[in-house]
Amino acid sequence: MKYIFKILRYDPEKDEKPHFQEFIHEPCPADTVMEAMKDIRDQQDPTLSFRYSCREAICGSCAVVINGHTTLACLQSVAALGTTEIVIEPLPNLEIQKDLYVDMDPFWEALEKIEPYIHNEGEVPENGHEIDEAEMDKIYQFISCILCACCYSACPVASRDGRYLGPAALAKLYRLVQDPRDQRDYTSWRQVNAEDGVWGCDTVFKCNDVCPKEVRPADGILALRRKIFVSELKHIFKRKP
Ligand code: SF4
Ligand code: SF4
Ligand code: FES
Repeated sequence: MKYIFKILRYDPEKDEKPHFQEFIHEPCPADTVMEAMKDIRDQQDPTLSFRYSCREAICGSCAVVINGHTTLACLQSVAALGTTEIVIEPLPNLEIQKDLYVDMDPFWEALEKIEPYIHNEGEVPENGHEIDEAEMDKIYQFISCILCACCYSACPVASRDGRYLGPAALAKLYRLVQDPRDQRDYTSWRQVNAEDGVWGCDTVFKCNDVCPKEVRPADGILALRRKIFVSELKHIFKRKP
């Protein structure tokens, strides 16, 4: 069956503004949108630009908007869209560098601010750290994050306030401070107790809706708020004479 792919094109060196270009293409019945995009690039227009690597929903590099829904191009089957007209756009909230290829720097910069690694200066036990199941249950869903930025680009707060750390970074911070191996002190991460941190979230849950890995970043943000509240109380009582 023939499909019409309407793909947003923009080359800042040539184009005044983004525009849609139509391609007629006949994908194989089981093809994903990623496979269709690769075929269109290989057979019709080698200048079509987009990111991808693993093609298995692991690397997080192929996020785009398909028929209005933010997702991974390698995860979305063409047939499952239920229409022969497929509109593909780059992630919103991030500057287009070329076609579907966006500047991810604001997303990475937010992530860097939360120092996204386990803080632990101690020796690693001979057989590795043991974490009990109950502790793992609290953080397991957040470990599935592949840093695709679907949540960040769908977040209304991140779209209007570039200072907001965004759902992925805040959920990652929760995952780390909740990890029994992480020894960072509350004073080192209390900067997220702010309007551009956990209190900036409007709790409209768009991030939970769009995550292709079934992470619920807003759950992490709300849990972080509770953790901050408890930590602040501890600080207040510690300061009392
Ligand atoms: S719940 Fe918060 S972080 Fe998630 S999309 Fe809404 S405002 Fe953004
Ligand atoms: S939380 Fe989900 S949507 Fe957000 S970056 Fe991670 S995998 Fe992508
Ligand atoms: S190509 Fe790696 S997630 Fe899609």
